[in-house]
Amino acid sequence: MKILLAGGAGYIGSLLAPTLLERGYEVEVIDLLWFGNHLPKEVKVIKKDIFDCQKEDLIGYDQVIFLGGLSNDPMAEFNPALNFISNGAQPSYLAYLAKLAGVKRFIYGSSCSVYGYTVNELYDEDSPVTCAYPYGISKLQGERGVIQMQDDNFSVIALRQGTVCGYSPRMRFDLIVNTMYKSCLVDGKITVNNASIWRPILDIRDAVNGYLRAIQADLHISGVFNIASDNYTVGQVGDLVKEQVETLTGQKIGIEIKQIQDFRNYKVTWQKTKTILGYEPKHTVSDIIVDVHKHRDEYGNFENDHYYNIRTFKKLKL
Ligand SMILES: NC(=O)c1ccc[n+]([C@@H]2O[C@H](COP(=O)([O-])OP(=O)(O)OC[C@H]3O[C@@H](n4cnc5c(N)ncnc54)[C@H](O)[C@@H]3O)[C@@H](O)[C@H]2O)c1
Repeated sequence: MKILLAGGAGYIGSLLAPTLLERGYEVEVIDLLWFGNHLPKEVKVIKKDIFDCQKEDLIGYDQVIFLGGLSNDPMAEFNPALNFISNGAQPSYLAYLAKLAGVKRFIYGSSCSVYGYTVNELYDEDSPVTCAYPYGISKLQGERGVIQMQDDNFSVIALRQGTVCGYSPRMRFDLIVNTMYKSCLVDGKITVNNASIWRPILDIRDAVNGYLRAIQADLHISGVFNIASDNYTVGQVGDLVKEQVETLTGQKIGIEIKQIQDFRNYKVTWQKTKTILGYEPKHTVSDIIVDVHKHRDEYGNFENDHYYNIRTFKKLKL
C-alpha cells in the first residue's frame, strides 16, 4: 500500500514514516521542510507547498494523511490569516484533490483543541465544540471541510489528537511534557502556569499507533475519533515529570505554580476509537520522560530555534 504524508517531515510524520516502513508500507512525503528533513532515506521526499499540488500529484496513492498546517496556538495567533488558510482551507483542498485522484482514504490530523473550555465533563466526539481561539477554530474548519467529503468510495477519518509529547527525530520542546523535561535539565525547575487545567496527553508512540489503526480500518469506516494516552491536570503532569526526572538524574527538581488563566480546558474519552478502530493507548507521562531522556545526547542546545515552532516560523517571515 502506498501512503502520502502531507506535512510528513514534521514532528509526528518523522516518527510515523519509519513505523509505516517497518510495517511494509510504501511512504512518500510532500513538505516544505520548515524544520529540515529527519526522515529515513527510503522515504521519497517532495519539497513542495501543498497548495501547489494538482490532481496528478495525488494519483497512485492508496491513502493520504494530512499533517501540515500551523501546529500550535502561538503560530496561529502570530499570523491568524495564514493560520485560517493553512489549517482551515489546506486540508479541504488536499482532500478534494485526493478524492478526484481516486485515493481511497484521507486521514486528517485534527486536534482536541476544538473542545475549547469545558467544565469537568469527559468529552466525546458528539460533545459540543466551543473553541474561540484561532488554532481551535481553524482545526475545526479543516475537520469539517474534509469530513463532509466522505462517501462510499472515499473514507475520511479525523483523529482529534490530545497534546502530543515524546521523542521524535524532528524534536519539539514546545509541547507541555517535553517543555517541562527541558526546564528540569536547563533550570532545575518546572513552571506550572495553571495547575487545575485539564489536558489529554498523547504519547507520540500512541499517536503513531492511532494513525496505524486508522490506516488499517475497514474502508467503510469514516468519522471523527478522539485519541489520547490519558487525561491529566497540568499540576499532575508537573508532579509526574518532576518525579521521573529526579529518578532518572538524581537531581532535585523544583516546581513553581502560577495562576495564569488558560482558554483551553478539556478531558476526552477515546472509547469510540477503541470500539471502532481498535485503538488502545499504552503509555503514561512517566513513559514519555523515559523516552525523551533516552535520546538526551542528540539534542545539543535545547534553545535551538528549530525545537520551537513559533521561533522557526518567525524566522521564515511568512
Ligand atoms: N503536535 C501536537 O501536539 C498536535 C496535537 C494535535 C494536532 N496536531 C496536528 O497534527 C499535525 C502534525 O503536527 P506536528 O506536531 O507534526 O507539526 P509540525 O509543525 O512538526 O509539522 C508540520 C509540517 O508541515 C509542513 N508544512 C506546513 N505547511 C505546509 C505546506 N503549505 N506545504 C507543505 N508542507 C507544509 C512543515 O514544513 C512541517 O514539516 C498538524 O496538522 C497539527 O495541527 C498536532
